[in-house]
Amino acid sequence: MKRVLFYALCAGVACASFSCKPKTEEKAPPVDSAAHPAAAAPAPISKEPFGTLPDGQAVDRYTLTNKNGVVMQVINYGGIITSLRVPDKNGVSEDVVLGYDSLSGYLKATPYFGAIVGRYGNRIANGKFKLDGKTYTLAQNNNGQHLHGGLKGFDKVYWSIEEAQSAEGPSLRLKYTSKDMEEGYPGNLTVEVVYTLTNDNALKLDYTATTDKKTVLNLTQHSYFNLTGNGKRDILEHVLTLAADKFVPVGKTLIPTGKLTDVAGTPFDFRTATAIGARINGSDQQLVYGGGYDHCWVIGGADSTKAIATVFEPASGRVLEVYTTEPGIQFYSGNFLDGTITGKGGVVYTKRFGLCLETEHYPDSPNQSSFPSVVLNPGQTYKTQTVYRFSTR
Ligand code: BGC
Repeated sequence: MKRVLFYALCAGVACASFSCKPKTEEKAPPVDSAAHPAAAAPAPISKEPFGTLPDGQAVDRYTLTNKNGVVMQVINYGGIITSLRVPDKNGVSEDVVLGYDSLSGYLKATPYFGAIVGRYGNRIANGKFKLDGKTYTLAQNNNGQHLHGGLKGFDKVYWSIEEAQSAEGPSLRLKYTSKDMEEGYPGNLTVEVVYTLTNDNALKLDYTATTDKKTVLNLTQHSYFNLTGNGKRDILEHVLTLAADKFVPVGKTLIPTGKLTDVAGTPFDFRTATAIGARINGSDQQLVYGGGYDHCWVIGGADSTKAIATVFEPASGRVLEVYTTEPGIQFYSGNFLDGTITGKGGVVYTKRFGLCLETEHYPDSPNQSSFPSVVLNPGQTYKTQTVYRFSTR
């Protein structure tokens, strides 16, 4: 109950603050009309076919345009954000997320590009956890561990989508009902994720869920950002600030040791803005285990009205700020991208070509009694909020 109250409170505070925030964009950036033919008088939401799933289900692509001409595209499959075009410091709109041009790419092989991840974002040791003395067994789909909800997680299911408009901007309400024991998790779970493209150039994510049996839940969004625009180069020159004093150290299979480590004096200290590439290839054991950064930073108790993470890309001047009610943020520096994926516009995604900032609970929380609880009970409402806000400098 405590957890739900905390979420509800934080979400309220966050909401109030985000909508009151002054705009940092002084002038409305010009719209990239080639990418959006309706640019002159943009329809805030439009929809077009984006292919068919193997079971015959038709997938649509929704295009949302805010008052400044920022454009986001989302598909029913996985709730995937397929593109997000935001202006650089000269007002040129370009895509800042990785992904594919067509549905077939997402169906073939994707490291969760742009998707909603659940039921459990991140790893659960050996794919097992206990609730009230009963052991639940999940898929071991990552090196003997459970990752991102299993073989067919929320990134691979069909989400029904309703369009909505609010004073904040155009939004989509995505809904999915996960059956009792789907991928091994107990409880019929009703999930709703609302994506709002706000008129102050933020993507606001509101997650809610309810269950009819005690279960565990840790939803997140897995967009890979590359602020150079249309994937000009990797993310090593992006400059990151993370307002966190501690992170969650892991063993070689990237399962937490159970301790929390001070970032001070380590390459995990991003309390002052530092280029991602500055220390990434060092000999620190944690970096070696992750092949770079692939860790959760502790932000629990932080003020959700303040940016917990800020990314700045010097050449384009683009800035991404992250706000969240969640207690952790997984910063993944795209270490497993290896050039085998050719993404949008024929761009080859080599190592560290995108970065994820996944707001969530700590990995393996169902098995770690000292970590904040991820248990959801019947009668409770899971409620979290994350905001990705774009500006330029
Ligand atoms: C994880 C990585 C994993 C990646 C999958 C990230 O959230 O932290 O370890 O390889 O997702 O693409």
